[in-house]
Amino acid sequence: MSSKKDLTKSNSSKLISIKLLGRDIDVFLIETFIETIKTSKKFNSIDEEIIFNELIRILKKDSKLIDSLKEKSVEKLSKSKEFKVVVKEVKQSLHRLYGMFQEKDKTKRDELLINLKNEFENNNITNKNWNNEFVISVHENLLSTHSSTKERLEIYEGLYDKIFEITGKPKSILDLGCGLNFLSFPYMNLNVLEYLGMDISDDDLKFLREYGEFISKYKKVKIDTKPINLIEAKNKNLFFDIKKHDVCFIFKVLEIIELSKSHKISEKIIVDVPAKWLVISFPTRTLTKKMMNSIRRGWMHLMLDRLGYEYTTLMEKNELFFVINKN
Ligand SMILES: C[S@@+](CC[C@H](N)C(=O)[O-])C[C@H]1O[C@@H](n2cnc3c(N)ncnc32)[C@H](O)[C@@H]1O
Repeated sequence: MSSKKDLTKSNSSKLISIKLLGRDIDVFLIETFIETIKTSKKFNSIDEEIIFNELIRILKKDSKLIDSLKEKSVEKLSKSKEFKVVVKEVKQSLHRLYGMFQEKDKTKRDELLINLKNEFENNNITNKNWNNEFVISVHENLLSTHSSTKERLEIYEGLYDKIFEITGKPKSILDLGCGLNFLSFPYMNLNVLEYLGMDISDDDLKFLREYGEFISKYKKVKIDTKPINLIEAKNKNLFFDIKKHDVCFIFKVLEIIELSKSHKISEKIIVDVPAKWLVISFPTRTLTKKMMNSIRRGWMHLMLDRLGYEYTTLMEKNELFFVINKN
């Protein structure tokens, strides 16, 4: 897959062009696409590298389209039909990957975090009494700001006990496509934790860092975040510089990033991830609450058997969990 590193550099090290299907594409054209896509509020917090990669993936499909974009003058480029078609396709793809889970109004979660901070400061909350009713209710409201965690609200209580009964209490957790799942930390009943959250959304990662900074004053938790595009796992080991964690969560992510029914990306991630245990979940209902057709995920059973991993499944309300031993 192309990456921004493939862009040709001039002597002054300024990016000038990218080679695609044997054609040199001016970096101005690429930048115009990225800038246009980022003017949309919904996508302006997505890492530019991710937009770039989606753009290249789409352009690569059509050499005639590239030729026709290259012919356009600077003034006419962004008004042209071809330009608009590509922008639309990139946006649709980014929406599928990222946008449909996001709450449009992010101010609510910022306000809730401020409430939480004030409550801790004004009421002398310590690490002993920090899971009082108010704190739990603010966490529930925070978890409601992301559709995935909102759907899990009914099962968080007791969920981690069941998982950690199998894996043992982890000291380190890696969370891939984490969203805001770390806001369920009070339900984990852990006193010491190193947590690394990875996601395509810069915005969610920024919020997690802010929450982590605050919570680490009260608990022995170290929170780190890193942007990732899990689709790129197909062609390279994305985790070569990540240390081995006790447990890795991949909740409701694999079927979003799969580009084909062969589940090659999922398999590559399952094999490459540096963790003793993997906990992978799948929704059993659609976002519109309809029951899905194949809730058992037969393909996961076949793949895990073929790879020779031992695993247990937990069927919870609206979500199926695979707890996989990679020891
Ligand atoms: C359905 S949500 C699940 C969030 C979280 N794991 C949970 O269950 O609460 C999917 C998450 O995957 C992230 N995501 C989507 N495409 C991704 C990609 N290509 N690479 C990394 N993360 C991605 C989204 O930003 C979103 O946070």
